[in-house]
Amino acid sequence: MKEGATLIEYGQVIDAQAMVEPPEATELELEPGHPGLGDEGYVQRRRGLFDLCRRHRLENLGPPIIEYTPEETRIWREVSPKLDELHVQHASSIYLKAKRTLGISDQEIPQLRLLSDRVHQETQMHLVPAEGPIPYRIFYQYIAKRGFPVTQFIRHGSHPEFTPEPDMIHDCLGHVPPLMNRDYAELLTLIGKAASTTNRGDYVLMLKRFSWFSIEFGLIEENNETKVFGAGILSSTGEIPFSLSKDVYRRPFVTDTVIETDYDPSRMQDKLFIIPSFAFLRSEIENLIRRLNIPVL
Ligand SMILES: [Fe+2]
Repeated sequence: MKEGATLIEYGQVIDAQAMVEPPEATELELEPGHPGLGDEGYVQRRRGLFDLCRRHRLENLGPPIIEYTPEETRIWREVSPKLDELHVQHASSIYLKAKRTLGISDQEIPQLRLLSDRVHQETQMHLVPAEGPIPYRIFYQYIAKRGFPVTQFIRHGSHPEFTPEPDMIHDCLGHVPPLMNRDYAELLTLIGKAASTTNRGDYVLMLKRFSWFSIEFGLIEENNETKVFGAGILSSTGEIPFSLSKDVYRRPFVTDTVIETDYDPSRMQDKLFIIPSFAFLRSEIENLIRRLNIPVL
């Protein structure tokens, strides 16, 4: 993946092409070319967090409280203010309000356990500690039960604006704030229920595309302006301006088109869809699930 491109390899979670997934990883694996490879201190830290988060996930203990290192805090303080400046300009007002309500600071790494409690008060969603990418069926099973899997590690400091895998900056600054919105929480839960219930690969692919072009890379119309709410855009200093640039083909979110549209997670996203509201998206997913006859409504 080229540097500056979308920072996330969503592959194991939401990959339209890979219907057959690798088995769940039981120990840390950094992919070839990962900037942390060869940095023994980083690899050790990642191993420790992998084991801790995996245990908390499997034993249903909720996100562990983590004592972050000065280096991790340095990376957060380098990336988060840049993102926040872009959020103020381009993020959906729903996202911005939720980010402020959650008290997400650009100076201190938030504790996901506290964010989880606050989100739960608002929409009965909660955060599930994730040691890394989780196979899509397990991922969707958590979402179906109103749990959103989130990582608790931070990318490698040599390339603070890039990570080949979803990390805490992606999850916490991208995925967590919208969970405070009721329509968003309900539509996400429905996607989880539908994707973890159906056995049809073509239906799962439709639901993955629906998620990709909304939850990960969605745009929203607010007061005649196009704003961003997708986590993959909001967690990338490159994707935010790119998503609103003339290099991207943007059209209204039409479900029938979206579920037929392929995407390539390894590059900047140049095809995006704009929703009018989260209520619209919620009713679109309900209609789709009804049409596909998946018995979760
Ligand atoms: Fe994501």
